[in-house]
Amino acid sequence: MNILTQIKDKAKNLKRRVVLPEGTEPRMVQAAKKIIFEGIANVTLIGNRKEIEPLAKDCNLNLDKVEIINPTHSPDYNTFVEDFMELRKHKNISADEAKTTIAKPLFFGAMLVRHDKADASVAGSVNTTGNVIRAAISVLGLKEGINTVSSCFMMTIPKYRDELNKVFLYADGAVMPNPTAEQLVSIAASTADTMKNLLGIEPKIAFLSFSTKGSASHPDVDKVTKAVEMFKREYPDIIADGEFQLDAAIVPEIAKSKALDSVLAGDANILIFPDLDAGNIGYKLTQRLANATATGPIIQGLSKPANDLSRGCSVNDIIDVTAIAVLMKG
Ligand SMILES: CC(C)(COP(=O)(O)OP(=O)(O)OC[C@H]1O[C@@H](n2cnc3c(N)ncnc32)[C@H](O)[C@@H]1OP(=O)(O)O)[C@@H](O)C(=O)NCCC(=O)NCCS
Repeated sequence: MNILTQIKDKAKNLKRRVVLPEGTEPRMVQAAKKIIFEGIANVTLIGNRKEIEPLAKDCNLNLDKVEIINPTHSPDYNTFVEDFMELRKHKNISADEAKTTIAKPLFFGAMLVRHDKADASVAGSVNTTGNVIRAAISVLGLKEGINTVSSCFMMTIPKYRDELNKVFLYADGAVMPNPTAEQLVSIAASTADTMKNLLGIEPKIAFLSFSTKGSASHPDVDKVTKAVEMFKREYPDIIADGEFQLDAAIVPEIAKSKALDSVLAGDANILIFPDLDAGNIGYKLTQRLANATATGPIIQGLSKPANDLSRGCSVNDIIDVTAIAVLMKG
């Protein structure tokens, strides 16, 4: 069975609630209808009911089945404003700034997740990745033990070696432009978590570089070898190794010649790229040249799930990301 179908089936069993902060965007309303119809999640739309009503009518969405919240009219608004002031007190935020911020759908949606009134939020059909992530970071904060929010792409390769629909996770292809060694460790730990909790597959992590096990020396290589050492010390139970060139990470025959002693033996299923340039180019190369399906970015490292969409997303993309987001709660 296709991995996304499996994810949707798992989501259906959990009957969780997703908040869609961009509730006045037609694709979001159409997605809400299908998410409810397929039983993937209950839905909260943020926005003005008067604006949502005609969109719902256009796609035959029965609004009795949806919760609609207009932030400033919500009984939770004042509580969320006070909570946000407390969260941002290190920035000396004023009451007026907090009120204006929490009135914004992205921030109000994140507050619903923070206060367990929704299990996950999904946005990005009209907002940029940066804005979606900034709202999530400031309201939800980081998962314990993680020092950076990051992302991964789930890459499904139609045929890799003898395996059909082989799944890899690539990180980070969307969030962290120039990670330090410490941040690479967090990116790898979060991606291992995503592999285990979302896909139920044992993570096997390769830290990528232009060098394999000391074949080249350069400060960029040093950053990756430092991350590998730190990761192995902090997460001794997770299979991980590096630094590897891509072929030594995923081709057993090449691993035998370039990295004979490695625990990975050319069988990695998580690829940690040294920076965002490499990660973003890498996932798009695989998508275009190997005809792979790229699902994501899946945002990871937050205390509770908030996921992003591409602004060019389709209704089906929103449904897929919703299923992933509600499962990310663990
Ligand atoms: C993640 C991102 C939004 C952060 O933006 P930024 O301008 O560096 O963030 P700011 O400087 O405004 O920082 C906002 C807060 O988030 C924190 N922060 C920034 N990036 C963070 C990260 N990856 N993890 C955790 N916290 C982070 C900052 O420390 C700051 O905290 P504070 O307000 O408590 O001091 C930015 O890196 C980004 O836009 N990434 C996306 C890149 C992109 O366009 N990708 C598209 C390709 S698909």
